[in-house]
Amino acid sequence: MPTASNWNLLDKGRGRVDLFPRTDRWSALADELFDDTFCKAVELQNHYCDLLLQRIWLELDLGRRISRATTAAELASDLDFVSSADVTLDAMLRRLSRRVGIVQTVPGVPLRYVARGNPDDPERALTEVRDSMADLGDQWPAALELLDFGADHFVHALRDDPEFMDRILSGREPQHAEMWHRATNADPLQDIHGIFGGRVLDELFEGGTIVEIGGGTGNGIRNFLASLEMHDRVDAVDKYIFTDISNRFLIGTRKEISKRWPTVPMDWKFLDINEPMHAQKIPVGDIDIIYGVNAAHVAKDIVGFLRGCREVLRPGGRVAFSERIRWIPDGMAPRELALNLSIYHRTAAERSTARPLHCYLHPEGWRRVLNEAGLVDIEIIPDLDRMSARMREPYAVVVTAVAR
Ligand SMILES: C[S@@+](CC[C@H](N)C(=O)[O-])C[C@H]1O[C@@H](n2cnc3c(N)ncnc32)[C@H](O)[C@@H]1O
Repeated sequence: MPTASNWNLLDKGRGRVDLFPRTDRWSALADELFDDTFCKAVELQNHYCDLLLQRIWLELDLGRRISRATTAAELASDLDFVSSADVTLDAMLRRLSRRVGIVQTVPGVPLRYVARGNPDDPERALTEVRDSMADLGDQWPAALELLDFGADHFVHALRDDPEFMDRILSGREPQHAEMWHRATNADPLQDIHGIFGGRVLDELFEGGTIVEIGGGTGNGIRNFLASLEMHDRVDAVDKYIFTDISNRFLIGTRKEISKRWPTVPMDWKFLDINEPMHAQKIPVGDIDIIYGVNAAHVAKDIVGFLRGCREVLRPGGRVAFSERIRWIPDGMAPRELALNLSIYHRTAAERSTARPLHCYLHPEGWRRVLNEAGLVDIEIIPDLDRMSARMREPYAVVVTAVAR
């Protein structure tokens, strides 16, 4: 049974003595994974996002369209965008206002935006960032691909085909399946969520049944089982119930994972996190871990979803979510250049101050929703104050809490 203790001297399930406090182990892991190259890539990706947003600004002629104070909803209407595109435009304009300064916010509810000028043509700078990213190593240019995709399909997804990005994100757009697989697995800045989550979960897991929610293309299960394998512990899994709402993802991931780990007992299941888990045949009081990699934030009613997790967990069982967080509570993440084109991403919101913006939560928001759902021993891993000395905006965490 996982313990809440931070000082984990004798870890029987793992059959070894751990001499360091758990927080030290998380810090050592964070130092190993978020190294200097990683931090440099984060900066480059952020800069690339700003440049692409400036390109979109020029393409949409925003300098003229918002020469007078305008709300995002008014701008969405002026551009003939679908009405919920105001969320996308709000995020974009806040980011440009904070990081580039070509637009100014006018306080009030809703916020209004007024252009301060036009940016220079960003094409040369975009090429320079691509080159710098390539200089970091062969795998790093993949970190820019989803951003390019978002910029190239921005108008199409917000005006012509509003469900386009939702189909991609849930595996219903075969033509772009490879792009999405790369975006969730080959991009090292994204793959880190599965790697970090897998390594942390390996430490937290002491055997039993795991339910993975929103498992998608398999970043979570693959990295977790790889970590267990490294420690010769794969047989600690009594059962792995892999779930998603996309049958295409379920079939594809099942094929890949069953081939690599044929002895692990697995179940492949359609499960919608916006519906109660017990109603979807997850046995109540029986689950040791509910795991998710960038999936829990998709829940529309996140407290309701967490209460549902508590219901099916055995006493002492835990949730562990490897999550992209918002360090700045209303800060747009670079990947949201593409994700904000999806209706489910931009409309997943909580009617509470815990999630003032759609989808990703701020660390304090996570504490609040876990607490509201009645989960205890809440931990956010790694130590983010410490991380912020390495990275301007730490973004990859594992949030975990226990059911009693
Ligand atoms: C951002 S992806 C993360 C996928 C995977 N865990 C990874 O990290 O690569 C979110 C996943 O949640 C799934 N999803 C979307 N809405 C869902 C819902 N209502 N219930 C369960 N899963 C959902 C999508 O199909 C997708 O696979």
